[in-house]
Amino acid sequence: MLVEAAKLGDIAPGGLKAAEANGKELVLGNYNGKIYAVERRCGHMNAPMELGTLDGYIMTCPLHYAQFDITTGECLSGPVTGIRPGEQKTPAHFIGTVMSNIRTHDLKTCPVQIKGDSIFVDV
Ligand code: FES
Repeated sequence: MLVEAAKLGDIAPGGLKAAEANGKELVLGNYNGKIYAVERRCGHMNAPMELGTLDGYIMTCPLHYAQFDITTGECLSGPVTGIRPGEQKTPAHFIGTVMSNIRTHDLKTCPVQIKGDSIFVDV
């Protein structure tokens, strides 16, 4: 079922946006001007992915930095358990270390169609 999820102007290149379609939580991402839709919640511990980053096709979770290919939903790397140079240690790092043995699942994707200035997802 095709459902309008957002307007094209809502997502700048490199941007992420939460959307809901037919009761499903999604995140929409603009990679090189093409829109992709994947499950909104991280495959590790359900963080909202729209609060993360999109660098090229790589979407990074805001909580423990697992990375996903936004074009396929494939998990490219699991949670980061250490502290990056220059970073402050936060409770998220501790939790990420403790929970790093939790399997990180791939994200389901939804087909996207553009009609006029609207983004439709097939859910
Ligand atoms: S919730 Fe996304 S990496 Fe842990």
